[in-house]
Amino acid sequence: MSKSILIVEDEDTLRESLKRIFVKDGFHVDTAESAEKGVGLVDNNIYDIIISDIILPGIDGIEMLSKVRQVLPDQIFIVMTAYASLDTAIKALRAGAYDYIMKPIMHEEIKQVVKNALRQTQLQAENIILKRELSQANDFNGIIGKCPSLISIINEAKKIADTKSNVLLLGETGVGKELFARIIHSNSSRRDKPFIPINCSSIPENLLESELFGHVRGAFTGAVLSKRGLFEEAEGGTVFLDEIGDISSALQIKLLRVLEDQMIRPVGGTKSVKADIRLITATNKNIETAVREGQFREDLYYRVNTIMLRIPPLRDRRDDIPLLVRHFITKYSKQLGRAVNDISADALSMMKDYNWPGNVRELQNVIERAMLIAEDSTIKNENLPEAMRDLKAFRQSSLEGGLSIEDYTKAFIIKYQSVYTEQQLSAMLGITRKSLWEKRKRWGMGKE
Ligand SMILES: Nc1ncnc2c1ncn2[C@@H]1O[C@H](COP(=O)(O)OP(=O)(O)OP(=O)(O)O)[C@@H](O)[C@H]1O
Ligand SMILES: [Mg+2]
Repeated sequence: MSKSILIVEDEDTLRESLKRIFVKDGFHVDTAESAEKGVGLVDNNIYDIIISDIILPGIDGIEMLSKVRQVLPDQIFIVMTAYASLDTAIKALRAGAYDYIMKPIMHEEIKQVVKNALRQTQLQAENIILKRELSQANDFNGIIGKCPSLISIINEAKKIADTKSNVLLLGETGVGKELFARIIHSNSSRRDKPFIPINCSSIPENLLESELFGHVRGAFTGAVLSKRGLFEEAEGGTVFLDEIGDISSALQIKLLRVLEDQMIRPVGGTKSVKADIRLITATNKNIETAVREGQFREDLYYRVNTIMLRIPPLRDRRDDIPLLVRHFITKYSKQLGRAVNDISADALSMMKDYNWPGNVRELQNVIERAMLIAEDSTIKNENLPEAMRDLKAFRQSSLEGGLSIEDYTKAFIIKYQSVYTEQQLSAMLGITRKSLWEKRKRWGMGKE
């Protein structure tokens, strides 16, 4: 899109010559021989830049500048002035002009001033977009979805964000637990303090305690220096403990103490330090079962679970799929610099039918990959993963072959059990793991 300039100058030759040089450089140029006419044009058009003479018949350039800036405070306005009226030029700068140019006007000089001004508008625009994106990323609007089951969780999260309540986030892998945790933090009064995510299952068992609570020098072999733990680093902020279901029973007791006393004791230390942290935990395991079976302490469960948010899997809120697809297409077209902006009806319907065992994360990956290999501006069936297309073909042929749901399930398990994990298989079939296990047993298949 070409940039546009408005030139306000009463002297015909200068006005026309300026118009010529900018038109030649590819600008759209409007001109006015008076400020009144200029203001009229500004009312009805958008200009990237206004260049105006100061001394004009009727209202002068500075008055015009003030009028324009009242409605358009960011409008870039450049004034032209004769040497004799340098004072007026300074007045113009004070009134908010971007720059001034001395007459007689040198073409190269005015082009340079315009170029600089445009760079500034560009930076301003980028800043605005960036700020908007950042605030959106920290905002509940950053959680895309419209299904009532998700909206009610968003509403609940909004209500409890700015409290000290510990939050337990439940949901399958990739449903957005960490996203919720971050947004809850950034909507609490702790937002300017750290948000520290810790994945309990990715840190070796014997190191986890010292990672969390720190250690003193000599606490164990290799502890040559004292080290502060992540709970202390998070002072005043939020700790996000992911995969809480995986921590050992010894550590469960220690964590319970920290939550009860609000004090942390480093490994090998004798003194405790005060800890002001808010704890958000998450797990994709069935923690209620773990509590029932004695693998997870009930007292700790009640501590971490002041508020429980259960995020439903994507296949239970299929109306969110098209929204998420759009969202990720927009996101990746910017990030990858790919001019892909659409998806074919066929491809979208395949995505709507799919069961998404990896939930939103999987959908995000599918879109990113599809955008990289798309041949034009539209994502098509053939850009989706082979497994997804294969699955659809399998289902279609089963349906056409008149298979009963039981036979279909059986055939599905036989075909895909070596490709997908148990959790994925049950998600794809839309049944619980328990019922998958029962069916397998009944049919004498594989695992006990
Ligand atoms: N409703 C949503 N709107 C926009 N992005 C989402 C949404 N839900 C999830 N995402 C994105 O999907 C990805 C996976 O989400 P996240 O990491 O929060 O999942 P998780 O539940 O913590 O998964 P895991 O159990 O595997 O750790 C992230 O990039 C996240 O930003
Ligand atoms: Mg996570």
